[in-house]
Order: sequence, then C-alpha cells, then structure tokens
Amino acid sequence: MKPVRILFVCLGNICRSPLAEGILRHLAHDCPIDVDSAGTGGWHIGDLPDRRSIAVARRHGIDITGQRGRRIAAGDFAACDLILAMDRSNLATLRALAPPGAQGKLHLFLGYTLGVERDVPDPYHEGPEGFEAVYRMLSEGCLSLIGKLEDSGS
Ligand code: 4NP
Repeated sequence: MKPVRILFVCLGNICRSPLAEGILRHLAHDCPIDVDSAGTGGWHIGDLPDRRSIAVARRHGIDITGQRGRRIAAGDFAACDLILAMDRSNLATLRALAPPGAQGKLHLFLGYTLGVERDVPDPYHEGPEGFEAVYRMLSEGCLSLIGKLEDSGS
C-alpha cells in the first residue's frame, strides 16, 4: 500500500510540529505513513527542536533530536496527502499559500483528528507544564489519526 504522506505545520517548527512528527512516527508501527513537519515562519531553519520539546518527548520515550527546522515550501502542497496545522493562524497562512487543488488537504490538527475546532496552543512562552499539555493533545490526536488511517486502509 502506498504510504499516506502527512505534514504537520506550526509557526516555528521547533515546538509543536516536531513533537507531533515524533509522536506519530512512534505510534505508526505497521501503519504505512510518511510523516514530516514544517513551519510557516523561517526563524528556525536548520535548528534542532526546542529543548523543552526534546525533553517532553524524551520523558515519553521518543527521540526527536534527528529533526531540523524547515519552512513550508511550495512543493509540499503537491507532495503531501494531508497537511495538518496546529492552530487557526497557521491554517490561514497555509490557505493563503496553497494552490486551489491543495485546499482540501488542509485541516486544523485537532479538528481533523478529534473533531474539535480548537488550536494546539503555542507553548513557546510557557513552562514545562505547557509542553506537557501540548504533548497530551498531540498524543491523543495522533492516536485517533492512526485509527482513522487504519480504518481507511482496511
Ligand atoms: P512552534 O512555536 O510554532 O510550536 O514551533 C514557536 C517557536 C518559535 C517561535 C514561535 C513559535 N518564534 O517566534 O521564534
């Protein structure tokens, strides 16, 4: 089966979307997916994920230190099957950048995965508890996403 290509998008690509990428890859097991992440902003191109995202992932047994920040590119809209934005602001940016044929690939992460039209809040100015809360939201959403992908492939 052809893998489903999933891209998670946040603002900086150092806090939320690298964590989502790590969690989904960790949960995927036999589910055929390609997962990647990107930011709509370009401040952290080439950077490691934020140390607080690395730490919360590590606490849950996931290593995200192989990832490096990158910015969404025009080619992503054709290359990916599903593009999930962490919040409505980044979704609006994606909607403005994407060609008409790719608009249907764009969704809010919690809306698509859990059916709740809520943002995964930016934890950049938060303490470790903010990162733990983001981890829990992402983990719940990714578990549901895996279930959906398995259902649609069966
Ligand atoms: P992220 O968090 O979008 O979850 O990666 C942010 C990281 C960095 C910045 C903003 C948000 N920044 O402005 O540098």
